[in-house]
Amino acid sequence: MRAMATDHYGSPDTLQRCDLPQPTPKVGQVLIEVYAAGINPLDWKQLAGQLRAFQRPAWPLVPGHDVAGRIAALGPDVSGWQVGDEVCCMLDGYPRPAWHGFALGGGYAEFAVTRASTLARKPAALPWAQAAALPLAGLTALQALTDVAQLQAGQRVLINGAAGGVGVFALQLATVLGAEVIAVARAEQADALHALGAAQVLDYRRFDVAAMPKGLSLIYDMASVLTLPQCRAGLLQGGMLLSNLPSLASFCAPLRERLGLTQQRLRHAWVRPDGSALQRLLDLYSEGQLQIPLAAQYPLSEARAAMQAACRGGVLGKHSLQVV
Ligand SMILES: NC(=O)c1ccc[n+]([C@@H]2O[C@H](COP(=O)([O-])OP(=O)(O)OC[C@H]3O[C@@H](n4cnc5c(N)ncnc54)[C@H](OP(=O)(O)O)[C@@H]3O)[C@@H](O)[C@H]2O)c1
Repeated sequence: MRAMATDHYGSPDTLQRCDLPQPTPKVGQVLIEVYAAGINPLDWKQLAGQLRAFQRPAWPLVPGHDVAGRIAALGPDVSGWQVGDEVCCMLDGYPRPAWHGFALGGGYAEFAVTRASTLARKPAALPWAQAAALPLAGLTALQALTDVAQLQAGQRVLINGAAGGVGVFALQLATVLGAEVIAVARAEQADALHALGAAQVLDYRRFDVAAMPKGLSLIYDMASVLTLPQCRAGLLQGGMLLSNLPSLASFCAPLRERLGLTQQRLRHAWVRPDGSALQRLLDLYSEGQLQIPLAAQYPLSEARAAMQAACRGGVLGKHSLQVV
């Protein structure tokens, strides 16, 4: 099968076009014929070797954690799915969730394997490129807002980095949950962010943390640049600063709270592949409550340029690879 892969850690430039053996689905897994693959920062972090302390990849390494395509084969003990079903998912090729929390990808290829429990049915009207752009970022936003922050209707939320991959979904989901959202992003993205539900848009290049908006139940920081002391004046008692990247401070925070050292919470979110939760997001798409903004789409052979563009940022939404 065609794939973009590398045999050593490095930048996106290390990716090469190659022919690899098609993977075989094991117990509880399916083989997907990939039509489109999504791009996430996790892909270039994995390429750069940032996960090597936790996850030893099989070389050659095929990046990519998001795919949309058709089921090409079922492994043993898979029920509820048929060959030919149109699906999308955050891939996890491990037989069960790994202790370190990272999933096994391999999406920049014509075929990929995943546990059947990660799958969701793609709505017929949803283009492949957008279906592949949703899973990892959408699940991150959904799990962070509901499981970690337990966001409630009527609460006030600030989303820092609201135009990025996770941010565009966090903004819309917080709005669907009934929260008032202040989006922090580039000023030129203000109109698009208002259209996605932002009540107010602040320019992050002029954003002064000393003038943080008040009355916030949640600050969701995609850029992981804010600290709890910087956010105290904006957060209500019991309010939360939430990041997608763990830190020593976020690991220690629950203990500090139990000791009564702080009235405000610091947490990190950690995405889990979950087909049922992804189906919820796709239902919101079908109901017209969730858009999947796509910044650009590239052919698989241009994965290097696509990753570089995604890494550069400055745009609204996600990047996808067209595989067939
Ligand atoms: N732990 C997990 O499970 C998990 C899951 C998903 C993502 N993540 C991590 O979460 C982070 C965000 O992911 P993503 O997919 O949303 O990335 P992304 O698409 O690159 O978006 C990041 C956003 O942050 C903005 N930004 C950059 N610097 C900023 C600053 N100083 N202040 C405010 N905003 C700033 C960017 O704006 P510009 O484009 O204008 O620069 C961009 O809109 C990444 O580090 C990713 O690895 C972790």
